[in-house]
Amino acid sequence: MTCHIRKMLPGDLPEAMGLLDRWSMAPTPDIANAERSGIEIDHAFVAVDDRGRLVGVGSYLLHSEELAETASLAVSPEVKGLGIGARLQVARLQEMLERGIRRVRTETDRPETIDWYLRKFGYRIVGSNPKKHAFSLPDVDCWTVLELDLVAWARSRDKG
Ligand SMILES: CC(C)(COP(=O)(O)OP(=O)(O)OC[C@H]1O[C@@H](n2cnc3c(N)ncnc32)[C@H](O)[C@@H]1OP(=O)(O)O)[C@@H](O)C(=O)NCCC(=O)NCCS
Repeated sequence: MTCHIRKMLPGDLPEAMGLLDRWSMAPTPDIANAERSGIEIDHAFVAVDDRGRLVGVGSYLLHSEELAETASLAVSPEVKGLGIGARLQVARLQEMLERGIRRVRTETDRPETIDWYLRKFGYRIVGSNPKKHAFSLPDVDCWTVLELDLVAWARSRDKG
C-alpha cells in the first residue's frame, strides 16, 4: 500500500476524529479539563492512502518558543507496522525544528508505544502524570512522560 503524508485540512477533521476514537484517543471538547479538547489543525499532519482514505494523523501543541508537546498520533489498526506512524512523527518533528523548538514532550501509556519512541527517536523517560479522565488504555491511570532533545535528534538523523 502506498500513502502520502500532508498537512491536515479542516475537512479531514471528522475522519481524523473517527480514527483517534478507534484507540479511545479522540479529543473530547464536551469534558471540562479534558486530556485533549481538539486538534490544532495548523499543527497537524495526516497520512492518506492511494484511495484517498485517511489512515494516520499526528499533531503537536506549542508550549513556549522552545518547548512543544506531541498530540493525537495514531494510525489505523490495519496499517500498523508499515512505517506510517514514523513518517508522521518525522514530519511533525521536522516542522517543530523549523519553528525553533528545541525540546519535545510526549505523554503516552501503551508500553509498545513508549518503547517505540525510546528506540526509534531517542526520547528519555522524565516522569509520569496522572490521567485526568479515562482516555486511551482503560486500565492504565497515568501517562509516562517522555522528552526528546530535538536538536540532538536532527543531528543524529543527518548523520544517517
Ligand atoms: C504508535 C503508532 C502511531 C506507530 O505507528 P506505526 O505506523 O504502527 O509504526 P511504524 O510502522 O512506523 O513502526 C513500527 C515498526 O514497524 C516496522 N516497519 C516499518 N515499515 C514496515 C513494513 N513495510 N513492514 C513491516 N514492518 C515495518 C518499523 O521498522 C517498526 O519496527 P521497530 O519498532 O522494530 O523499529 C501506532 O502503533 C499507533 O497508532 N498506536 C496506537 C496509538 C498510540 O499509541 N499512539 C501514540 C500516542 S502518544
